[in-house]
Amino acid sequence: MRTDTPQTIYRKDYTPPGFLVETVELGFDLDPQRTIVASRLTMSRNPDSKVRAIELHGENIVLVALRMNGKTLSKRDYRLDDKMLVIPEAPDEVTLEIETLTAPAKNTTLNGLYVSNGNFFTQCEAEGFRNITYFPDRPDVMAKYTVMLRADKAAYPVLLSNGNLIEEGDLGDGRHYAKWEDPFKKPSYLFALVAARLVCQEETFKLADGRSALLQVWVEEGNLDKTDYAMQSLKNSIRWDEERFGLELDLDRFMIVAVGDFNMGAMENKGLNIFNTKFVLANPRVATDIDYAGIEAVVGHEYFHNWTGNRVTCRDWFQLSLKEGLTVFRDQEFSADMIGTDSGRAVTRIDQVRTLRQAQFPEDAGPMAHPVRPDSFVEINNFYTVTVYEKGAEVVRMYQTLLGRELFRKGMDLYFERHDGQAVTCDDFRAAMADASGRDLTQFERWYSQAGTPVVRAEGRYDADSLTYELTLTQRCPATPGQENKLPFHIPVAVGLLGADGSDLHLNVDGLDAVTAVLELTEATRTFRFSGVKEAPTPSILRDFSAPVVLEYDYTDTELLHLFSHDSDPVNRWEAGQRLAMARLLKLTAAVAKGDTLELDTTFIEALRKILADESLDAAFREQALLLPSESMIADQMDVVNPQAIHQARQFVRRTIGEALQVDLRAQYDANQTPGAYSPDALSAGRRGLKNLALAYLASTSSEEGIALAQAQFDSAGNMTDRVAALGALIHAGAASAQAALQAFYADFDNEALVIDKWFAMQASAPATGLAAVRALMRHAAFNIKNPNRARSLVFTFCVGNPSQFHAPDGSGYAFWAEQVIALDALNPQVASRLARSMDRWRRYAPALQAHMKKALQKVAGVKKLSNDVREVVSKSLA
Ligand code: ARG
Ligand code: ZN
Repeated sequence: MRTDTPQTIYRKDYTPPGFLVETVELGFDLDPQRTIVASRLTMSRNPDSKVRAIELHGENIVLVALRMNGKTLSKRDYRLDDKMLVIPEAPDEVTLEIETLTAPAKNTTLNGLYVSNGNFFTQCEAEGFRNITYFPDRPDVMAKYTVMLRADKAAYPVLLSNGNLIEEGDLGDGRHYAKWEDPFKKPSYLFALVAARLVCQEETFKLADGRSALLQVWVEEGNLDKTDYAMQSLKNSIRWDEERFGLELDLDRFMIVAVGDFNMGAMENKGLNIFNTKFVLANPRVATDIDYAGIEAVVGHEYFHNWTGNRVTCRDWFQLSLKEGLTVFRDQEFSADMIGTDSGRAVTRIDQVRTLRQAQFPEDAGPMAHPVRPDSFVEINNFYTVTVYEKGAEVVRMYQTLLGRELFRKGMDLYFERHDGQAVTCDDFRAAMADASGRDLTQFERWYSQAGTPVVRAEGRYDADSLTYELTLTQRCPATPGQENKLPFHIPVAVGLLGADGSDLHLNVDGLDAVTAVLELTEATRTFRFSGVKEAPTPSILRDFSAPVVLEYDYTDTELLHLFSHDSDPVNRWEAGQRLAMARLLKLTAAVAKGDTLELDTTFIEALRKILADESLDAAFREQALLLPSESMIADQMDVVNPQAIHQARQFVRRTIGEALQVDLRAQYDANQTPGAYSPDALSAGRRGLKNLALAYLASTSSEEGIALAQAQFDSAGNMTDRVAALGALIHAGAASAQAALQAFYADFDNEALVIDKWFAMQASAPATGLAAVRALMRHAAFNIKNPNRARSLVFTFCVGNPSQFHAPDGSGYAFWAEQVIALDALNPQVASRLARSMDRWRRYAPALQAHMKKALQKVAGVKKLSNDVREVVSKSLA
């Protein structure tokens, strides 16, 4: 455990490494208590560096032996502290032999080499490799790896590492070995090993160039009935990358391994992806439509990293979005293409917009705000954020919007042509896009360097005499920590104009002739002139959410209702409904706080009724259109947040809709049944989504019909999607039968860890679940704080997903938060730090709540042995 004050690392301080590594030979004698790691490195002086010394990182490991060019080094030849091993004097060509000792079973951080359910796994991104052996653990050091694994054969029959298996056999005394060789150079963060009792589903798959590859999905024995969808998703990913980007699998073998204890979603280790079980295991009995979609997206994501991340990697961790933003964009496009229809694609886009607003905009407006390419950090693990990932994906999407698909593809081709096998920067990516397209993307750089969500204000003016419509766009960006003043961004704003009959008008602007124009706003303010506009239009601005900004336009209700009924752009059509809903939710929240009577206008309800019944629209779209903004999204629109008032207002709206549209909801409930065998395809999932949203509305009224419907669905559900939807409806309605249903659910699935996670999460998010009930659940035999999925399902869900209870006026929720952050930090700093983030925006609450929150933050900050991870988050929150 570190006790020194955490150090801030700056992007501007980047210097190339003094030595490069050509080859790495690793030998592992695996033992849970005492694993010996022997490493043999061939290194040579880097002509591009001024650093003289060999600098190796190493943490939480014991140095047993150190030889340079065959000669054992004495303590006078090197410096060693708890972070670094430095050899000041070394010849230009060096062979280092290093022996270290670790205790994987004691490693609760799930970083480096660790044990989960008796099996060995590794997680090395970002800086986990230094917990395994001394090494220049930085992504710009790329080397070829050969790995020898030795372990007990009965306990660990399966021995895996990156690349190709070149040798295996028995060692006697019950041990065996396997030797792996990765033909590609890679940075240390992509190293992985697995030594485990596992089984696999495998398949030989034909690649586009005629080669074939062995694909494997490794899981514990009891889960072999849950690997089909991950395998199918892997095959789809390989095909898609061949077709859309011309990128092929470069290995003979590609493995996915599932592990129950994992800090994040998954990891793209070369040829040996390691996954949280949550993103591998599925069958209709245990997984929901959302789980299936998550598996497809994450399998795709990790696979796509093989090119965007592995073949071309990051020079330093400030460039993280180079691989993550790009790879999220790629997995988003993959998921959209797998649906295949324009309307299906739009629904995936709506989901992305919701994620941005729900998580990224708040991050960008809080104390941890940082640019897509950060300038500094204390702990890099704190920067695996929605800004680096999701906003980073938006930045990549904007290149495609600005250049068009064809030139964007040319830019990608040029990027790989220039940088295959290299560790590069976000500027290199931008240069490839600029050079391939001939476009000047200098100003576009500000999307990487400036934090904060830009606000675009739009004002329209129609002149009937000259038939011109003027749209004036003005941008500003709020200050963020360390960045008081911002310069204008290069913003693509896609615009359409609707006529009175709801159809798109033909646009003439900047020489363009289309129904949607991509306006490029590069100045602080600019007026765009549309000519030949025959009637006063309703503007549809920021179509398909063409930039990650907040759009301000003083729409009237009439205009919004017009867009909600007619906009040809589904994202803006949905958006109009969200604006109508948000205005009402905010008004009602104020009314709750004042004790006024609550009322919801029939105009809004009738608009919803029309959409709900419109069979020309996909069920998935109608579901999105009827989904209200979340409580935290409402909170984001308020100067002083009142969580209980928000909750009551939103409940009121739900109930009122449920009552007013009872007949229509019931009709959709009946019309969108999906009889026959379960299929996770988007069309079926969309129908279930709409049906289950209808059920939630019907049950929210606590009517006999609604409760009976939920109970009947719970009892007869043929798949997990329908089962959890019914159980959730019963719990949220406070139905008398909810407890019995929860018990039955538990009894049915007590062997399925991922389902028990849902069981905890559903209770933790229920508005009736207070802190006492959460504490009782923590004493449940199935609760285990060391397992990240379980901790997230109960503790995180309560702190993040149950605002009206978490923000109890007495501050008890915050005291609980502090207690849990501290307890988790002693075990697993990465997980603790994620929970610590949930108190980020404490300054937005009423003074009485703020006082309690500050006390809780100070309590955590006052802990002496705090990790850098949590220290950075709480000190930035308090700053
Ligand atoms: N590169 C992984 C992914 O996005 C995430 C790994 C992050 N791990 C961490 N400890 N920060 O697919
Ligand atoms: Zn990633």
